[in-house]
Amino acid sequence: MGRAEIKLFQRDAESVAEFLRPRLTGDKKVKIITHTDADGISAAAIIARCLYFYDVPFNVHFSRPKKTEEIAKLAEEDYDLFIFLDQGSGQVEAIHKFILAKNKDVVIIDHHPGNLPKHPNLVYLNPHTCGLNGAKDVSASGGAYLVAERLDLRFRHLVGLALIGAIGDRQEFFSGFTEVNDLIAKRAIDLEIVRQGEGLRLIGRSMTPVFESLHKSTRPFIVGISRDPSACRILLKELGISQTITISEFHPEDEKNLADAIFSRVGSIAEREEFRHALWGTVYTNTSDQIIGPRDLREYATILDACANFKKADVALAMATGDETFVKEAMELLNLRQDEMIKSVGWLVKRLDLLKDAGNFRYIYCGDEIDPSLIGESISLLIESGTVEMDKPLLGLVDTPTEEVKISGRGTPRLAMEGVDIGGGLNAASAEVGGFGGGHDVAAAARIPADKMNEFLNKLNEFFARKKDGL
Ligand code: C5P
Repeated sequence: MGRAEIKLFQRDAESVAEFLRPRLTGDKKVKIITHTDADGISAAAIIARCLYFYDVPFNVHFSRPKKTEEIAKLAEEDYDLFIFLDQGSGQVEAIHKFILAKNKDVVIIDHHPGNLPKHPNLVYLNPHTCGLNGAKDVSASGGAYLVAERLDLRFRHLVGLALIGAIGDRQEFFSGFTEVNDLIAKRAIDLEIVRQGEGLRLIGRSMTPVFESLHKSTRPFIVGISRDPSACRILLKELGISQTITISEFHPEDEKNLADAIFSRVGSIAEREEFRHALWGTVYTNTSDQIIGPRDLREYATILDACANFKKADVALAMATGDETFVKEAMELLNLRQDEMIKSVGWLVKRLDLLKDAGNFRYIYCGDEIDPSLIGESISLLIESGTVEMDKPLLGLVDTPTEEVKISGRGTPRLAMEGVDIGGGLNAASAEVGGFGGGHDVAAAARIPADKMNEFLNKLNEFFARKKDGL
């Protein structure tokens, strides 16, 4: 991978911009269909801001990837142009059959794999068709940003949103961004729209008193400090740091001292790179006043996800499109989300006695202790707490109200590089027991009938064993 693939992706972004340009005259009605997460919201905010600028009437709809019958219904709606963001690649067959067949126009900006047959009324931007990896090299918001930039350089102040989406999709790694994301980040820094620094990566660093940042910290969950107000107070007092200032107001020395004190307090956890990276590392700060809300890009991504989680993606979109009246509500939703997450991760960290080693992966079955909608993120946060060794994938399993078990699987970039494909594994093993699943090599999910859990775990173990043997 390298320059040629990035060039190809940029050329495809140019093709999407060329396709859009004559359709942005205001006489075509646009429907944006996007994913309900930080990446989908960021991508929608970028495209929505372009459409506002050109005075194009549009509607934004948030959803999971649409099923065939939902796309058939969508095609009935009175729109001329359908823009699918962070989805669409897996639904191309239905899009052809129902939307393109009606002579309507379609744009797909996505980073999920899919088979993308050509059509004169369709353009798409997808890293997989350019030899790039959609799980790490660029997200939907990065694609949307490159299209916007090609439409007009005045949209460059939106570059922070491209990185917010990438960060939300966990495309920022120990060594930074890769490929297209790296290009976008470098450009944002060169243009001084985003500032890159080093520091504590705790949520709230730009908006919340440090006491709250520590007390509610789930990324990472700091054993012995998170959820323990008196431990937080003692720690700050010992270091002579005021509880009420934000981390971004710290003297740089205090920030380093606080990190060192945390590392020494958590003992051997400090040696786990997932924990180290979650606590301390690169910090990206938005400097453009065109993007309102928190300055810290990680915090921004977490807020968008929090809103999405409470089915308030519209609040997040309003903030990301520049409406200041929604910042307070978005922050409140972040608070609620943190309360939920700290409960779930706190439970997992406390119940590590339930963690089992299946041979080729580890898993923890949580019964109904964790909500199915929270298990994926909770497992990601458990990994970042540094309490689980990550030399093999980690799965969280929970019961659902529909007599199913939801499984969320997470790996690491290193495991993915070694060829561990969790999405492939969950897809194959769930299908074998009458379930359904899929996703990326590092993060995936599945649902299976509740009585098939053990069979599923065995099938998955066999899948990983076969892959290890190169079969
Ligand atoms: O639900 P969870 O956060 O664990 O999902 C992990 C990833 O797997 C998400 O990116 C989701 O979009 C993807 N996924 C998928 N197909 C499924 C289930 C999940 O692509 N059937």
